[in-house]
Parts: sequence; structure tokens; C-alpha cells
Amino acid sequence: MKVIAINCSPRQKGSTATLLHHLEKRLIEKGHDVEFVPLYDLQFKGCKACQACQKKGAPICAIKDDLIPVLEAMEQADAIIFGSPVYIGLVTGCAKSLIDRCYTFFGEERSKIIKQKIFSDVITQGGDIQYFEYVREHLHTWFIESFEMQSGGSLIAAGVSSAKDLKDQPEIFDKADIIADNIDKQYKKTVK
Ligand SMILES: Cc1cc2nc3c(=O)[nH]c(=O)nc-3n(C[C@H](O)[C@H](O)[C@H](O)COP(=O)(O)O)c2cc1C
Repeated sequence: MKVIAINCSPRQKGSTATLLHHLEKRLIEKGHDVEFVPLYDLQFKGCKACQACQKKGAPICAIKDDLIPVLEAMEQADAIIFGSPVYIGLVTGCAKSLIDRCYTFFGEERSKIIKQKIFSDVITQGGDIQYFEYVREHLHTWFIESFEMQSGGSLIAAGVSSAKDLKDQPEIFDKADIIADNIDKQYKKTVK
């Protein structure tokens, strides 16, 4: 299985990256290929509403920037793992620009492709677990309900401000292991 793990945190050694790399490691151990994308290292902007992607046979996106290979990798992947910290009550700006560019997956041909994929999310936040549940819900509304992707499960690490805080909650890595198992099982079910 091809997996793309997208780190929408600016920190490449932060809590989001750490959890994504943990999932990456587990999925590689299960024999899958994982492409890790440090989104903040790329130069790209949000959707410019040209609608070109909605035309039949159109290229994935008319904006020729660093996001094109990411959108193409998402289209080719079997599973997409989307990781973002909560910034001012939402996903990061970079994450939202990527989500807006996912408009391409509403096109007639690409909507059929995207719905075959597994979607998992990793959310990290400084605040307690009772806050920002709507961030996960928002991601699910679009990726699971609108794009009709298959849910591989969600991981929320609350009360963390950097990767070292994850050491105080070792159970989060057990939860990550369950998600890696889920993704693996979901994939095996779809290829049967
Ligand atoms: C600009 C900014 C805004 C933030 N806003 C919130 C917030 O609204 N709620 C919250 O719980 N944590 C907030 N945080 C804390 C981050 O979500 C938290 O530290 C997260 O684990 C960082 O992920 P990282 O380690 O991958 O960088 C904010 C951090 C930054 C830098």
C-alpha cells in the first residue's frame, strides 16, 4: 500500500511530526511504502478559484507550484494521513491551503478515485482534550463525508506544546499503533 503522511506543522521535530513518524514506522514494518511530506518546506498558495480542475480531463491543478506533486501523490496513494497542530482553534494555515486545493477531488473523475482511499488524521493541541473536537469533525466532514474516504481513525494528542510532552502520555503511541493496524486492515479488506 502507498501511504502519504503530511505534516502540516512548521516543526519537523514537533509533536505532530513525531506521531506521524511513529505511524510511518509502524506502516513500514507492515510492509507499506510511506511518503512523508513536510508541508511547510514547500512553496504554495491556496486555491485561486479558477475552476480549471473541475473540467473533464483537466490537470490536477492549474497552479504550478510545489503542491502539485503532493496532490498527485494523494491521488495515487491508498491512504492519506493528515497531521496538523491546532493553531488559533483551527488547523494551521498551511493545512487549510492544502485542504482548499483538494477542491480538485470534487471533479467528476477524481471524486471516484479519492473515495477509494483511507483517511486518518493526527491532531495535536496545547489545550485539553475537551477543546477543539470540532477540528477533527471538520476534517471528517470534508474527507470522510464529502469525499467519501474510508476512515482509518483519528489520533488527538492534547496538552502538548512540543514533542517532549508526548513522553508524559505514552498511551498516545499505543493509540497510534491501533491506527496503523486499522489502516493496514482497512487496506487488506479493500484489496480482497
Ligand atoms: C500560532 C499558534 C497557535 C496555537 N493555537 C492553539 C490553539 O488555539 N489551541 C491549542 O490548544 N493550542 C494551540 N497552539 C499550541 C499547538 O497546537 C501545540 O503546541 C501543538 O502540539 C504544536 O504542534 P507541533 O509540536 O507539531 O509544532 C498554538 C501554537 C501556535 C504556535
